[in-house]
Amino acid sequence: MAFAKISQVAHYIPEQVVTNHDLAQIMDTSDEWISSRTGIKQRHISKTESTSDLATEVAKSLLDKGSLTADQIDFIIVATITPDSMMPSTAARVQANIRAHRAFAFDLTAACSGFVFALSTAEKFLSSGQFKKGIVIGAETLSKAVDWSDRSTAVLFGDGAGGVLLEASETRHFLVESLYTDGSRSECLTYGQTALASPFSDQETVPAFLKMDGRAVFDFANRDVARSIKETIENGPIAASDLDYLLLHQANIRILDKMAKKIGVDRDKLPANMMEYGNTSAASIPILLSECVENGMIRLDGSQTILLSGFGGGLTWGTLILTI
Ligand code: ACO
Repeated sequence: MAFAKISQVAHYIPEQVVTNHDLAQIMDTSDEWISSRTGIKQRHISKTESTSDLATEVAKSLLDKGSLTADQIDFIIVATITPDSMMPSTAARVQANIRAHRAFAFDLTAACSGFVFALSTAEKFLSSGQFKKGIVIGAETLSKAVDWSDRSTAVLFGDGAGGVLLEASETRHFLVESLYTDGSRSECLTYGQTALASPFSDQETVPAFLKMDGRAVFDFANRDVARSIKETIENGPIAASDLDYLLLHQANIRILDKMAKKIGVDRDKLPANMMEYGNTSAASIPILLSECVENGMIRLDGSQTILLSGFGGGLTWGTLILTI
């Protein structure tokens, strides 16, 4: 039997910080409104680096930490809703930038669940026994996706990237997973529709920017996502109280507070960093994971069990429980 394990983690954040006070200079908002409703105090906004630039820095860092050369990598998956282009994919750009000649590479689109869906996909490649090493990255430049004249969304999002090196293992690390999509509720979170713009089509222009019915997404997270996390734990071998940490998508601190209660775990087990980065969609979970390793909360020695859960556009939601 072949198995997969996370052997390295890394993240890369663009340097420029934009605080809530900075935003209040350019739109009708306040630090009080943003931080009391979301927990967000600031976000990082890229000046020149594109999504593939952020993802490339993560990939380089993973190779460094794993003492690997790029030609040892079998595949690269980048989860993103803000690719540099549809073609080539962001992952293909990363593959070229790090010169991972042997690796196949593709993007995966599942919004804020993207990293969890990508990690689950990558685990299947390694479990097949055919591949030994893969890189999975969540990377976003959401600053190009939001409508900067719409205060209800512009204040929520930020740019950044995080990722993991996944390697073959002789023991099982991925214990249980659940992945869901409900396309019938897609309208509450949309971005990047493209119009049928040929001389032969009748379609009018379509909205290009990110649009969100915040209340609907908030309720979806607290109801559907909380219930599915609970069920995933119940279907697995580890009791909620024995999980070391639950790393949830970083959209809103109030969602984390409610989740901890609904799942029945100590609030301290749900680390948060949206205060510093805002909502970075597919990048939020791997950035948080990488920070938890950097600050020593997660040791990466195979002795801890963590839960990762993403939720967002699609609607999509997904949970993985793994030893790390
Ligand atoms: N500054 C000041 N006032 C604002 C702002 C702002 N930036 N934005 C909206 N308001 C106003 C509104 O106009 C409204 O005013 P009104 O009552 O006079 O009409 C008032 O504040 C309340 O607005 P609500 O939208 O009802 O605020 P709410 O308390 O629901 O909080 C929020 C909004 C923070 C977006 C919340 O609903 C939320 O966090 N939702 C979940 C988001 C999420 O989880 N996303 C994850 C997925 S993202 C992805 O997949 C890409």
